[in-house]
Amino acid sequence: MTDRIHLSTEQARGLIEKYGSPLYVYDEGILRRRCREVRALSAYPCFRVNYSAKANTNIELLKIIRTEGLQVDAMSPGEILAEEAAGFAPEEIFFVPNNVSLEEMRFAADRGIMVSVDSLSQLEQYGGSGLPRRIAFRLNPGIGAGHGAKVITGGKSKFGIERNQVGRVREIAARFGLRIVGINQHIGSLFLKDEDYLAAAEVLFETARKFPELEFVDLGGGLGVPYRNEPRLDMEALGARLSGLITDFTGAYPRENIGVVVEPGRYITAECGVLLGTVHSVKENYGETYVGTDIGFNVLMRPVLYDSWHDIRFFSSPEGGGDLRKITVTGNICESGDILARDRELPLPRPGDIIGVENAGAYGYSMTSNYNSRLRPAEVLIDRAGGDRLIRRRDTYAELLRPPAP
Ligand code: LLP
Repeated sequence: MTDRIHLSTEQARGLIEKYGSPLYVYDEGILRRRCREVRALSAYPCFRVNYSAKANTNIELLKIIRTEGLQVDAMSPGEILAEEAAGFAPEEIFFVPNNVSLEEMRFAADRGIMVSVDSLSQLEQYGGSGLPRRIAFRLNPGIGAGHGAKVITGGKSKFGIERNQVGRVREIAARFGLRIVGINQHIGSLFLKDEDYLAAAEVLFETARKFPELEFVDLGGGLGVPYRNEPRLDMEALGARLSGLITDFTGAYPRENIGVVVEPGRYITAECGVLLGTVHSVKENYGETYVGTDIGFNVLMRPVLYDSWHDIRFFSSPEGGGDLRKITVTGNICESGDILARDRELPLPRPGDIIGVENAGAYGYSMTSNYNSRLRPAEVLIDRAGGDRLIRRRDTYAELLRPPAP
């Protein structure tokens, strides 16, 4: 079962009236629960959780995550700036980009942020620069996991340095006087069974033994949440097995207090978010029932990009609950592929009803766009006392029509 925000029809309608439609809504209590659960995975004193901010970079959410004792990774200078704005110190940020310019590596390194390189090519470029000599690299352990080919990164993919090239990392580091102080990996996004993650962790630990100067190893993210009523990832079992591996590794590693990091994004923010929108039309076309809403793929891209399933509910007044019908829920973008959910058995809503899309807190807002010259939506936080507060305003037309030059 997923952990979900409970909104009444009245509340959902009230939020849309106050902040506009569509609208991302987040629940602080659920967010904090997820942070605590991941932190509890291991009792090893140097165990750390880096929240992978690409899942959701809202600065107010980042601030909450920071108060829960998590650190962060970053993929770009923009994410670094958001994290700094949320109060993260340089040593709490880990820059793990791929295929970036030396300028971007400098952007991070000049601020005192640890950089990881994703290829031998980037290691050489970094080595030849005057940047700090402490560096990390991303291993590709040859094992992948995830909800689809587009997000599996371990094994055959553009990511990381493959195992049999690790010797060359040492050579290049020696040539440039670099100190390899960290090894990180990420095998892919969204697994609900932990075997591959743990197998890959063993590969990472084995590789780490060949680098005596490490300050940390980072096992990556990918921890999944159920989108479709699947059984939850068993965090207790994962924690127990992970802790066993950590004890074996750290007990034999020559340097004391080596950090062991996990880097989840989705697990932290997915369930705390619901995306609200409005039904604008209901029609029959060639035997299919289309429910047209303002949630196009500019607002939530996952269903179109990955064929991802998100549970949907309608807030109807008076309360719906009519007979279930097979319906296709679409957005307002001018592409026939703009489909949020196909052939769902749901009660038929009416124009004016509110639609809620579940598990929208991760890779929702962070993947929005202005396609069709639409404004990206606002974001609202429901705090632990039940109050609501705007945490990002909707785009404005002035921003959309900004002049070509300052
Ligand atoms: N670390 C690195 C280096 C990553 O590239 C990622 C995700 C993570 C950590 C966090 O992965 P997570 O715990 O969130 O699975 N847009 C896709 C997911 C792309 C994930 C990209 N990298 C989706 O909506 O399913």
